[in-house]
Amino acid sequence: MRRKLTPLQRGRVDIREAASNTRGVVCEAVRDKRWITRTALPEDSMDKPNIVTCTAPVNIAVIKYWGKRNEDLILPINSSLSVTLHQDQLKTTTTVATSRSFQEDRIWLNGKEEDITHPRLQSCLREIRRLARKRRNDGEAGLNLTGMSHKVHICSVNNFPTAAGLASSAAGFACLVYTLAQVFGVEGELSGIARQGSGSACRSMYGGFVQWIMGKKDDGKDSLAQQVEPETHWPDLRILVLVASAERKQVGSTSGMQTSVQTSCLLKHRAESVVPERMVEMIEAVQTKDFTAFAELTMKDSNQFHATCLDTYPPIFYLNNVSRQVINLVHRYNRHYGETRVAYTFDAGPNAVIFTLQQHVTEFVQVVQHFFPPDTNGGQFIKGLPVSCASLSKDLEQAIGLEPMPKGISYIISTKAGPGPCVVEDHLLGSDGLPKKTT
Ligand code: DP6
Repeated sequence: MRRKLTPLQRGRVDIREAASNTRGVVCEAVRDKRWITRTALPEDSMDKPNIVTCTAPVNIAVIKYWGKRNEDLILPINSSLSVTLHQDQLKTTTTVATSRSFQEDRIWLNGKEEDITHPRLQSCLREIRRLARKRRNDGEAGLNLTGMSHKVHICSVNNFPTAAGLASSAAGFACLVYTLAQVFGVEGELSGIARQGSGSACRSMYGGFVQWIMGKKDDGKDSLAQQVEPETHWPDLRILVLVASAERKQVGSTSGMQTSVQTSCLLKHRAESVVPERMVEMIEAVQTKDFTAFAELTMKDSNQFHATCLDTYPPIFYLNNVSRQVINLVHRYNRHYGETRVAYTFDAGPNAVIFTLQQHVTEFVQVVQHFFPPDTNGGQFIKGLPVSCASLSKDLEQAIGLEPMPKGISYIISTKAGPGPCVVEDHLLGSDGLPKKTT
């Protein structure tokens, strides 16, 4: 009978066994430096290693985080709230392997080896190892102690364009911390560690609707993410990511918010006098599934965030003409129906994220397709959850009355709220601890 595995044990492979199975291909592979790295080690120095793979979601803030009070610990000047997007459409996958035979910590991101000495990566590694040691010293029963001091190999990929304003660092650091925790047997509150990789990453540690409570303490111990409602709470809520540009953003969030903190008095006012009340209202809107309140707060908060960017000196522009056209389109659409059916929000980039209810998706996608006619030779315009076809009424077209912007939007990702990080079986690192050829 197959032994039932714990989540920690699932996904582990015995590298020694796998390595011995591949010995027959040594001649062919000897030119490959990776093979040399592996076989240069005497067999008895090889340990029973762990390989664990996890996935983590992207989140989109409806009350924005912008500005830190502590740059090293990544402590924010205001609380924020986000919706976790479904991993069927947007996710990061990370494999972490530990082995006594690894010579150094290494990391591969989207197929390329990167510098592991990056301070934020180091913070996450250090904190997880510290918690693992603490558990060992506290003498927790049943703890697997092997691998505690071993080096790690990390391999991570996104299934969406990196740095296109789609919160890739949030999913990336959440996934890294979650996977490291599985490997080192660390359980419990992890959002405080993910936060030290990237502020918004702490919110990707949970599914559904998540708040990041700013906290008051200087050591950041109370600056943590908390689930407000699970992903099943609001089944009719739909999310459309309108990808306006897959290019790298001009000013990164980290440096952008630094300049805003230094120069914008609007940001100070926002953090002190606007966000505290808005958080209470937003939580209430989510809990009661009040779409009108949720949508209006979402749009106002996005607009105020971009106003603080304009109030930054020198100003930062994340929105472009396509973004502004989307904003106009949403307001004209809502005005036509005399109710708030659709909302937009924009992070540090030009892509719009649209919130609406299931019953309005088909028509709104039709509207987007009409006013942003896609490239007919281009790939699929609508990805993700299926959207049915319909024709746009002349009435609505005239009521919106904007000049179409051909190819302004490259594609739409149709999704919904989804769960937090989880363990999966498909590893990105081979049994030699190196990225598989396909990644
Ligand atoms: C506009 O979390 O990317 O997306 O903490 O410096 O890594 P760092 O910044 P980051 O900032 C995200 C800013 C935002 C708003 C939000 O997600 O709340």
